[in-house]
Amino acid sequence: MTNQITIFDTTLRDGEQSPGCSMHTPEKVRMALQLERLGVDIIEAGFPIASPGDFQAVEAIAAELKTAKVAALCRAKAVDIEAAGNALKGAAHPVIHTFLASSGIHLQWKLKISPEEAIRQAVEGVKLARTFVEDVEFSAEDASRTDYAYLREMLQACFEAGAKTLNVPDTVGYSLPSEYGEMVAKLVADLPGAVVSVHCHNDLGLAVANSLAAVEAGARQVECTINGIGERAGNASLEEFAMALKVRREALGLDTGINTELLTPTSNHLSTVTGVWPQPNKAIVGRNAFAHEAGIHQHGMLANPLCYEIMTPESVGLSQSMLILGKHSGKHAVEARLKQLGVNLPSGEIMDVTKKVKELADRAKFVYDEDLLAIVEHSAEPRARLVRYQVVAGNNILPTATVEVEVEGHTRSASAVGNGPLDAALQAADAAIGLDLKLLEMHTRAVTAGKDALAEVTVRVEHDGHESLGQAASPDTIEATLKAYISAVAAAREARAAA
Ligand code: KIV
Ligand code: ZN
Repeated sequence: MTNQITIFDTTLRDGEQSPGCSMHTPEKVRMALQLERLGVDIIEAGFPIASPGDFQAVEAIAAELKTAKVAALCRAKAVDIEAAGNALKGAAHPVIHTFLASSGIHLQWKLKISPEEAIRQAVEGVKLARTFVEDVEFSAEDASRTDYAYLREMLQACFEAGAKTLNVPDTVGYSLPSEYGEMVAKLVADLPGAVVSVHCHNDLGLAVANSLAAVEAGARQVECTINGIGERAGNASLEEFAMALKVRREALGLDTGINTELLTPTSNHLSTVTGVWPQPNKAIVGRNAFAHEAGIHQHGMLANPLCYEIMTPESVGLSQSMLILGKHSGKHAVEARLKQLGVNLPSGEIMDVTKKVKELADRAKFVYDEDLLAIVEHSAEPRARLVRYQVVAGNNILPTATVEVEVEGHTRSASAVGNGPLDAALQAADAAIGLDLKLLEMHTRAVTAGKDALAEVTVRVEHDGHESLGQAASPDTIEATLKAYISAVAAAREARAAA
């Protein structure tokens, strides 16, 4: 049996099912290219039947990727499978991932079909998928809560129908590592020739532990996501799984093709796109994962980092130097730093980013890696823009704001009063744009430490039943909020016009 574990990344499918983590097609394509650079073997790009946007994203990713396989998810239904097959037409290495529930609970209450009928549908689904592509994966949803003899029968039938990879998800994150490992060991013995794959959810915080138990028991594919995002409590975290195999290589004897120095840049990339950052103490990629606070720890670190670090920050792509760029930095320094962070931009865009780095360095003292990534993410040409704003606020006066915006080439301005400076600014923006919008969510994050940190703001707005997301970064929180709000408004207008 090979020592190589296939990494099946589902950040763009299961991960995208996390509240707040939805992405537009261009963002998904950029993320897919980053995942390809990271070295994942298979990228699950979406669920084409779910929406026209998902179909388009799978199609666009399929056209771009050269080395990684591209998978599309579909239920074991003809209409789903046809959509997946069509979306994958341009892929160099397409994979259809079809699924059907196997547990008694799901068959009785959700699908309301007999166990025999479920096997029939699964087999038909696999056969149809094989008419589109060679590489078919079948997932028995809720496998870990399925009667073993039945699970084996269903998987055997799907294998014979042409699915070479058989995935046994712990869909509800219920398994314990010992139980899950035992199930996988039996399947590996009972299904010779098949690749047994695992897909673990994190409801009890055991997704990575279950995935490790599974590979020790013979599973050779692991489904996981960057930052562990995914439905409910998320999926197994790719970075934790890959580093467990690397750091404990002697104990486990298993490898992945992951270029671990790109783990931090990839995690940052995802968070910048979604506006959702991992908790500070998240293993591998959390802001504190390599921070040492206690004096005793600092002393030990200075004596020898091995005292308190089981892996080097560099091995996961974390730069030791926090201070990296300033107002004297030129294009080459910016380009080199971006390359180290896993971002490759055409030279025209690097000039633009360099200009923004200098502007920021003039306002804040330092430009950190996170600032740089935020600048790159927000440097795309805006569809509507904030021209200028002014706010008058204090503890004894009525907060008043004047906002000037440019929408589709027309400049408009308006003033408003509000409950606070931000409320006044957003009300003035509404009046200037001429729309009444509902602000559904707003997250503000200091990208770096310090009073002069860059603030990154993510907002979600609703207009006429259309929801959209906007993001912007600036050392001035009100300016970042207005810019994020205006870009969300522009996206909502576009979505409404397209509908
Ligand atoms: O959690 C799950 O069971 C899934 C399947 C569709 C693979 O996401
Ligand atoms: Zn899942």
